[in-house]
Amino acid sequence: MLMMGGSMAQETYTPSVENVASRQEFADAKLGIFIHWGIYSMFAQGEWYLQNADIDREEYAKAADAFYPHRFSAHQWVKAIKEAGAKYICITTRHHDGFSMWDTRESDYNIVRATPFGRDVIKELAEECQRQGLRLHLYYSHIDWTRDDYPMGRTGLHTGKDPKKADWPHYYEFMNHQLTELLTGYGPVGAIWFDGYWDRDQDPTPFDWQLDEQYALIHRLQPGCLVGNNHHTTVHPGEDIQIFERDVPGENKAGLSGQAISRLPLETCQTMNGMWGYKVTDQNYKSVDDLIRLLVTTSGKGANLLLNIGPQPNGQLPAMAIDRLKGIGEWTSRYGETIYGTTAGAIDPQEWGVTTRKGNTTYVHVLQQGLTSVTIPANALKVKKATAYDSNDPVKVSKGKGTITLSWQKPTEQVDFIIRIN
Ligand code: GLC
Repeated sequence: MLMMGGSMAQETYTPSVENVASRQEFADAKLGIFIHWGIYSMFAQGEWYLQNADIDREEYAKAADAFYPHRFSAHQWVKAIKEAGAKYICITTRHHDGFSMWDTRESDYNIVRATPFGRDVIKELAEECQRQGLRLHLYYSHIDWTRDDYPMGRTGLHTGKDPKKADWPHYYEFMNHQLTELLTGYGPVGAIWFDGYWDRDQDPTPFDWQLDEQYALIHRLQPGCLVGNNHHTTVHPGEDIQIFERDVPGENKAGLSGQAISRLPLETCQTMNGMWGYKVTDQNYKSVDDLIRLLVTTSGKGANLLLNIGPQPNGQLPAMAIDRLKGIGEWTSRYGETIYGTTAGAIDPQEWGVTTRKGNTTYVHVLQQGLTSVTIPANALKVKKATAYDSNDPVKVSKGKGTITLSWQKPTEQVDFIIRIN
């Protein structure tokens, strides 16, 4: 029996010592890479193709029998990601289509048993992450567009599932068995990243996902494993991190991030182009500069950036994504000190940029170009000394009425003009 008794109810959840340490490590990390990879990559239309194109689940499943990503190399992926300065990888172990990317005993619809490839890519990645010193986070879908036992919500309605066979207790047990496999056979798991809760947010009465027992199971199997849920609502008891989809916490441009910001470590997930899973027509990648600005902006909010890549069906990361990783890596190797291990600065994000803080040092990140000064509230910061991070040249400090103005000669033209204040 996997369910936990009331004594482990997450309402009264106090994170363990290991968990608190993981939270700190997570909050310091600032950059993670998200990987959306599954048999959906074969259709090259993004990870929602089964639902969006109204495909019959049995027709869709035929892609598994042709899935042979012969260019997949966990070593190369992890190396490229590490060189970008990312500290962790979060990969889809099972997305909404229901296909498992590891050798699960709970369903034959998995990469080892249903494909000619036959390799457990989660295991290979887990081992490689350990070797190269990156944390591995596992994305896990709460919903399933293929299995009959998942009681359908508002998506996945036309895949040929039989609604009469819905059986939540059976499905819940299946998920907990799968999570147990992932948390016992793949070494240390940095986080379980849930998704799909929103599938039932239009139910007339709130659906009980039984998160309490599931979160308790995770914490019992690996106390240091962080629990996060992309539910687009305020955090639930038992969660260790708060996730924002496609928005810097505090912004809500994509419409999924109106929820209050908690005191938990924060993470913003965002795509490099427009889609999570590989989409052949989507070459609209954000520029390296824009991605660096996004990374710095999330850091200025005290949040991590979980930046997504959709690998190709052949197992390679798209060349555009590799190019972006390289560009980010050049920046982090030079300026990483100004974000890693920092917290949000004392000044809220401004038009011109953000601040980060480490101990008594504040880093002012001027992200807007063409500026020769910025003005900050005087009570926010004690400024003894201000220097340009790159050149070490002094930055002029002028005190006004309740303000401090930092100024310099040359209008900013770099992606992030950094001033060190202590
Ligand atoms: C959404 C989508 C999903 C994607 C996720 C990543 O919830 O359903 O496809 O995996 O966002 O944030």
